[in-house]
Amino acid sequence: MQMTPLRHIASINDLTNDEIAAVFDTAQSFLDTLGDPHFSHRIARGTELANGMMLATLFHEPSTRTRLSFESAMNRLGGRVITSADPATSSTAKGESLADSVRVVSNYADLIVIRHPCDGAARLAAEYAHIPVINGGDGAHEHPTQTLCDLFTLKKKNASLRGLNIAIAGDLRGSRTIHSFVYALARFGANLVLMPAKGLELPAHVDRRLRDEFRCTMAKPPAEAGETNVDALYITAKEPHQLSLIPEALDIHVKLTSRIDAVYVTRFQKEREPGRNYGAYPTVDAEFLKDAKYAKASVMHPLPRVGELAHALDSDARASYFEQASYGVPIRMALIAATLGLLKDKSLARFTGGFAPAKGAHYEDAARIGLRCRNPNCITHDPLEGSTTRNLFTLVPAPTSSKAVLRCHYCETDIETYVAAHKGDKKVHHDQEAIHNMTTKDLTQFVMFADDAAASEAGFA
Ligand code: NCD
Repeated sequence: MQMTPLRHIASINDLTNDEIAAVFDTAQSFLDTLGDPHFSHRIARGTELANGMMLATLFHEPSTRTRLSFESAMNRLGGRVITSADPATSSTAKGESLADSVRVVSNYADLIVIRHPCDGAARLAAEYAHIPVINGGDGAHEHPTQTLCDLFTLKKKNASLRGLNIAIAGDLRGSRTIHSFVYALARFGANLVLMPAKGLELPAHVDRRLRDEFRCTMAKPPAEAGETNVDALYITAKEPHQLSLIPEALDIHVKLTSRIDAVYVTRFQKEREPGRNYGAYPTVDAEFLKDAKYAKASVMHPLPRVGELAHALDSDARASYFEQASYGVPIRMALIAATLGLLKDKSLARFTGGFAPAKGAHYEDAARIGLRCRNPNCITHDPLEGSTTRNLFTLVPAPTSSKAVLRCHYCETDIETYVAAHKGDKKVHHDQEAIHNMTTKDLTQFVMFADDAAASEAGFA
């Protein structure tokens, strides 16, 4: 009998919009039966849905909300939890690879939730685990379950996510919560107003995906708009052909910034790039929110806050951050139930592939002689992983430019410049057009290199 692949959630894009809606329905039904989270003492009862099942939480980085709400969720579902919350007390400290750890833990539990400092660690764990893996935050890559809490908060306050104008401020470069959030907002038709601290703008590959894969049109605010803290505006088209109907930049600016429905801010992620220089960091406080466009804006933050969000706002009706955190338990209960197939009609089908898996040929260099991922924080560069990762990329066609990019399978960072060398004649092929159209089978004949010099060093001319 052929085994169907397990459903892992390493990225928010591993879930379809319908699946996200189903998770929200389940979460709401838990809220209805268990009590409103704002009165947490009322969540007195649990369920027995996960009776006999075990969740393993493997946290290689600090966490309060994510780990405890996952553990609370599993307990409230009637299941049990085993946890490794400090890599210094696990075999990681002895030099064990993540791949080996998850292979072993797969025999001890039914589901793994992992948090790790390297981008792409959840995807690596999913490759080696025999049970489903959920990403509880991997480096600067993604934090899909935080996004579910964020979207659920927005859904509770707005009839629809479509057409909402969401301002996103702070560290857009290093915040994994923001990366999952912007993909999801674009997919559900919200518009984005980006307000990064200077030097902490959205990574190039996230920007490219928003434009190329999630139907966003990006506009730089025009000088005459007089706004200095907005870096970019992304408008999401309802249908692809609407992209041609996008008005002039100033019109977009007026449309997107005259009414902001939510402001989402994060702390500077100092652990990602210690010592990184950046411009003035935004502080969301009464002064920031005094403009009329913020009159009805929900103020959101994944927490923890460390100065960029005023405590004085806690009593403001717009403050939504503790509400966001409060949905951690019902949302994660719903996700655990869906992943483990505990609710007959709301299970994640084990064979579907998520929202928008990059459609492109796969390239694999198991021998690792060629091109490495260029993201220094990618799990493929973790010395503990040694031979557990490969140089594994998807050749993603780029509709708005002529060049296809190579996207790392693990951390999803894109590489724009590379050359392909044939394994047979050992020659570097310069026909970019032909390379961009290669199939997975074609690619088995080639090794990718950063440039001609790297190919020549490896004996290809
Ligand atoms: C976030 C994280 O870990 O990425 N925290 C969380 O899970 N709510 C945000 C952060 O640490 O700044």
